[in-house]
Amino acid sequence: MDLANFKEISGQQIKELVDSGIKIKNNPKKYMEALSGKSLGLIFQKTSTRTRVAFEVAMTQLGGHALFIDWRTTNFTLADIYDESQYLSRNVNCIMARVLKNSDLQKMILASQVPVINGCDEKYHPSQVIADLITIKEKKGKLEGLKVVFVGIHNNVCNSLIEGCTKTGIELTTVTPIINKNAQDQELMKTAKKTGLWKTTLNVHEAIVDADFIYTDTWIDMEFFTDSKFHREKENRIKIMKDYQINTELIRENGAFIMHDMPIHRGYEISEDIIEHPQSIIYVQSENRLYSAKAILLKLIG
Ligand code: CP
Repeated sequence: MDLANFKEISGQQIKELVDSGIKIKNNPKKYMEALSGKSLGLIFQKTSTRTRVAFEVAMTQLGGHALFIDWRTTNFTLADIYDESQYLSRNVNCIMARVLKNSDLQKMILASQVPVINGCDEKYHPSQVIADLITIKEKKGKLEGLKVVFVGIHNNVCNSLIEGCTKTGIELTTVTPIINKNAQDQELMKTAKKTGLWKTTLNVHEAIVDADFIYTDTWIDMEFFTDSKFHREKENRIKIMKDYQINTELIRENGAFIMHDMPIHRGYEISEDIIEHPQSIIYVQSENRLYSAKAILLKLIG
């Protein structure tokens, strides 16, 4: 079993991952030897703080070993991704890959002899959303029937939220004036629409009225953030998105919890004063990446 996105995974399986993450968080000692003797290859084409730390620490705390591999220092840069993945998978028990293109992840999955976890590509970020659902369940004690509003760019996190929420009975409204072209997945949207649990609107004020959680994310994908070729697009996005910033004015008289998958761009998608606002659960959400990683690893190679 791989974790490329949530397409091949049922709502029940997602719920089990969430419950497993909470169980592990509450009783870490019980799992200290659970992956004894197992190795995880972590390979990154892009930068990361949380995904790398969470999976590396998860392996250590589960009694296993994680090997961080910077793509740029390997022969993945010279050779066929298929051959290199064939090799890598013969020396580790699991691979977690953060790649620029989902098509590269698919090649790795095809070649790999062991499970492959998507550590975020341009289309999906499933391990992030397991952490998000853990955070939501910790706060409310349930998933079904809750209302989440995502305000930002329709990106990889948005896709995985659409899948994760609609499969677990959460009502999700997305307020996304801009869609990342490379994140588009018609099949995912069609499936989500059929559930009746996913709505889109551009009226952010109306959308958040009865929200339990308001979630935002960067307006610019990490690989473009400092890219001078993306400068004009960045300026254009800021102009369009500034009316969709999560700030005190927007959440006045609104009791929803505030979420952000991080890294945060203060003053852009979220104002400074919201980050540690009493309604913000952003830092706990990021901490829960560790329990998401542990739950996924135990499910795939435990
Ligand atoms: N949210 C997230 O994936 O963080 P990193 O990019 O730092 O791994």
